[in-house]
Amino acid sequence: MASKLVVITGASSGIGEATAKHYGAAGAHVLLLARNAERLYGVAHAIREAGGTATAFPVDLVGSEAVKALAARIEGEIGTPDLLINNAGAGRWLPLLKTSPDEARTAIDVPYLAAFNVTWAFAPAMIAKRSGGIVFITSPASYMAWPNASTYIAARRALAGFAEALQTELKPTGLFVTLVVLGNVTGTAYWEHNPGSREHLLSTNPTLIPDLTAEQAAKVIFDGAEGRRRYIVAPWPYRVLFLLNALFPNATASQIRRIAKKAREDAR
Ligand SMILES: NC(=O)c1ccc[n+]([C@@H]2O[C@H](COP(=O)([O-])OP(=O)(O)OC[C@H]3O[C@@H](n4cnc5c(N)ncnc54)[C@H](OP(=O)(O)O)[C@@H]3O)[C@@H](O)[C@H]2O)c1
Repeated sequence: MASKLVVITGASSGIGEATAKHYGAAGAHVLLLARNAERLYGVAHAIREAGGTATAFPVDLVGSEAVKALAARIEGEIGTPDLLINNAGAGRWLPLLKTSPDEARTAIDVPYLAAFNVTWAFAPAMIAKRSGGIVFITSPASYMAWPNASTYIAARRALAGFAEALQTELKPTGLFVTLVVLGNVTGTAYWEHNPGSREHLLSTNPTLIPDLTAEQAAKVIFDGAEGRRRYIVAPWPYRVLFLLNALFPNATASQIRRIAKKAREDAR
């Protein structure tokens, strides 16, 4: 494993917690970032109990100066990370008319600005070292759209655009950038953290597109990053949907509207 020192954002729950445990079990020193100190220390403790090395750094990633100060502290006390995993995410799925400007701003704050702040703060030392990588976790929203989640979808496009731009910009520096697109991941706290969202989730055929567990998602992220892959989509049939959407946007949109209408009728 190339990544010995790994920063993971959103490590206090869900996919980030599972990824931190996966890297911890594989022998990396994992640096856990999120706001909820109690949960973060709990995850670090669990990793250490299992024989790994983990350090928790409670922080709100929306504050660029706080993130910059934390990056300087980590550089000074521990070292330059080999890998950044930008996983922290939030954002409610709401119809436009129920979305406040504050909700729209929050959706951009995390994941996009949080990922920017972390990348901006750690990149100078990583570039100077000319090694390591940056991972971005996103959802199919980066490449498709459905009703009643417009600010969530807009924020995921910002994140994917940032990641794709860095793939080309950072190539000459020796850093790699991995973009991981995950379908529905069960057993995380995303719907609890973002109330009113789950009812706008469209069901997919579980035979064609199965849900992932957080542990499966963590393995996808680990394999993708350690294999220095550029672009991972899991489960893979989402690639077919992205292609159909690009080739036949009207037909795909009308099919998605039909599924959304049926979901609304079933929910009544
Ligand atoms: N669950 C899915 O089906 C799914 C599918 C595809 C992609 N994703 C993406 O995967 C990522 C993780 O999702 P999840 O399902 O694991 O959700 P989750 O359990 O709600 O985890 C979100 C994480 O982000 C952290 N976070 C939120 N705002 C933050 C802030 N301002 N500063 C620091 N940390 C912050 C949270 O920690 P604190 O509250 O402690 O700060 C938490 O650890 C998200 O980006 C999500 O969009 C999820």
